[in-house]
Amino acid sequence: MSSLDGDVSQNGSLKRVDALRALAEIEEFDFSRSLDKPPRTLNMERQRSCDERSMNELFGVPSPSPRPSSRAENNFRLSDHLDGLYSPGRRSGFNTPRSQYGFETHPSVAEAWDALRRSLVFFRGQPVGTIAALDNNTDEQLNYDQVFVRDFVPSALAFLMNGEPEIVKNFILKTLRLQSWEKKIDRFHLGEGVMPASFKVLHDPIRNSETLMADFGESAIGRVAPVDSGFWWIFLLRAYTKSTGDTSLAEMPECQKGMRLILSLCLSEGFDTFPTLLCADGCCMIDRRMGVYGYPIEIQALFFMALRCALLLLKQDDEGKEFVERITKRLHALSFHMRSYYWIDLKQLNDIYRYKTEEYSHTAVNKFNVIPDSLPEWIFDFMPVHGGYFIGNVSPAKMDFRWFCLGNCIAILSSLATPEQSTAIMDLIESRWEELVGEMPLKVIYPAIESHEWRIVTGCDPKNTRWSYHNGGSWPVLLWLLTAACIKTGRPQIARRAIELAETRLVKDNWPEYYDGKLGRFIGKQARKFQTWSVAGYLVAKMLLEDPSHLGMVALEEDKQMKPPMRRSHSWTF
Ligand code: GLC
Repeated sequence: MSSLDGDVSQNGSLKRVDALRALAEIEEFDFSRSLDKPPRTLNMERQRSCDERSMNELFGVPSPSPRPSSRAENNFRLSDHLDGLYSPGRRSGFNTPRSQYGFETHPSVAEAWDALRRSLVFFRGQPVGTIAALDNNTDEQLNYDQVFVRDFVPSALAFLMNGEPEIVKNFILKTLRLQSWEKKIDRFHLGEGVMPASFKVLHDPIRNSETLMADFGESAIGRVAPVDSGFWWIFLLRAYTKSTGDTSLAEMPECQKGMRLILSLCLSEGFDTFPTLLCADGCCMIDRRMGVYGYPIEIQALFFMALRCALLLLKQDDEGKEFVERITKRLHALSFHMRSYYWIDLKQLNDIYRYKTEEYSHTAVNKFNVIPDSLPEWIFDFMPVHGGYFIGNVSPAKMDFRWFCLGNCIAILSSLATPEQSTAIMDLIESRWEELVGEMPLKVIYPAIESHEWRIVTGCDPKNTRWSYHNGGSWPVLLWLLTAACIKTGRPQIARRAIELAETRLVKDNWPEYYDGKLGRFIGKQARKFQTWSVAGYLVAKMLLEDPSHLGMVALEEDKQMKPPMRRSHSWTF
């Protein structure tokens, strides 16, 4: 974890503060005027897709009445992807005692909205994000007083679902501006497209001014660049566009360029033999050494999601066209690779168990030369008869069989998982409820690593001891991802069960960042209280369940052109 403030106060050096400020100084937005303009096209169309219709039927939700649409407003190609739009408007806000569809509103909802609004961060009078945690009872702020890009995602979704898109637009534009900064670690320059992990607003009472300061990894513990930030940024841009119908933001040349810069970084050619993205440990939600270096599922699933979102948002002009072609090719290769080599179920496990090694040639079955003895003991008990999941990592002679929640949920939402695989993931969650949900949703990773393995893999990290924090801790923020995945697969009852569990404790425990223990019974040893994404994750889960049409903001339908993989295991039915 980085500590921008920590650095400053520890050194106590005014000079350093000034130097940082100089670095942080940003001129007022070139294109800030566009913020004041009303959106050029506000698509209020309420045509619902078949999926949304059937989803509402599933939930017994009455159909909203259609609104007339203006053809003239819908001439840009982005509008092709805006079916199922719902007009902005408050739905589940804390002033609403009963929700639109007659669901009883739980008292935690009001508490959550209160906490979320308290976490707002303003820059020159405009809300631009939410602080990571508003825990006043800890002296050790570290970087929890910053706006994290990944942490802001559930906050943004909550605001979008509640018909408050301005803060999301401001956030998108401010972080875009930060992207254009010169990024340096020691004497090394980071790629132009890197988005910050986090930023904060500095107030100067003497000059009566405000500046932004960003962290691209140069202050982060371990000095790792956040690979996920750029992907979340593209995801949010699409969520904003889908939810408001305002295509003008994504159409801005600056946004188009920002997207292209992110894409250039991850589509560049090198020595890779795989279409997956090679990254360092700690470059995502799990931002410390946890043995996820290589090709972690979280990044691959987000990469896939971002590529698909970018395909919907990029203009087909000269520059955009080239990217569209590259993205399309990469999506094909990536989906084939992931669906084939990351997928595991009982049959596949049995095949690996019987693998021959040292095969050479195109016909090799054990392509990555995985040694069957490297299969961990726990997986033989964990694997249910029905069900499967995407494993954590695949690289030469190395498969990380751990379950990672975020990657699997994003695989469902982005349709990286085929419908059969999505169903299998939900089957697994249901049959391994005790392990993955226990008393508090939701395990970020399963299982924990201990003893010698913990020493080697985490480098003896005292925060990541077994069943704590990233090492098998339970993170309430993951509720929104689970709920969205449940709705997409037609299994809302699973989400309802998880939310009910969370509701028994979250408010009472003051919205902890994470819980510890095999069952998630204990508030995390070093967990922050009033952790904003725990609050927002809960709200988004509630709003999704209440109005499943919100799913369109965070999920993509299957692209039929992406062929299922060739079968290795005969039990696969794609
Ligand atoms: C921790 C988490 C990271 C999160 C940050 C701020 O470092 O590991 O995912 O973004 O806290 O909440």
